[in-house]
Amino acid sequence: MATDLYQLVYVSRSVIEGDEQSYREQIDEILKVSRENNQRDEITGALLCNRRYFAQVLEGGQDVVQDAYERIQCDERHEQTTVLRFRPVPRRDFGEWTMAYEGHDSDALHSFNRLTQESRLKLEELDGLDLVSLLQAHLQAA
Ligand SMILES: Cc1cc2nc3c(=O)[nH]c(=O)nc-3n(C[C@H](O)[C@H](O)[C@H](O)COP(=O)(O)O)c2cc1C
Repeated sequence: MATDLYQLVYVSRSVIEGDEQSYREQIDEILKVSRENNQRDEITGALLCNRRYFAQVLEGGQDVVQDAYERIQCDERHEQTTVLRFRPVPRRDFGEWTMAYEGHDSDALHSFNRLTQESRLKLEELDGLDLVSLLQAHLQAA
């Protein structure tokens, strides 16, 4: 097993405000920077968000994933970042995506909305593996 490949899953509370257009612009900006940096660092993953929460999967070398998470954690566009899962994995689940995105009117988003409503909300009670499966199922179906 390739022990240097790690997967990290975290959730956080979004503090992005504004109308739909400015919200989308801010998400687009996050995705642009993420995709550039992640390509450089050979990180792949997926981002799921609704107006109140983010969930993100990052996968790649242990050091680069940890460094990316440190930067992300300090970002003022969200708070209470909570790691649900950080462990070696045998292969990438999101190998085709520098950062896949689900946040606009998709089945994955509707499931995420349900999950975040149901758990009302201790972030640490969300299940990292559920989030990975949810994203994977949707991306494979897309
Ligand atoms: C929800 C969220 C997800 C993010 N995801 C990533 C990411 O996957 N990779 C990344 O490099 N930066 C990500 N960022 C941005 C970082 O917090 C930070 O702004 C960026 O890494 C700084 O890059 P720079 O030093 O090249 O400007 C994310 C930010 C937020 C709020």
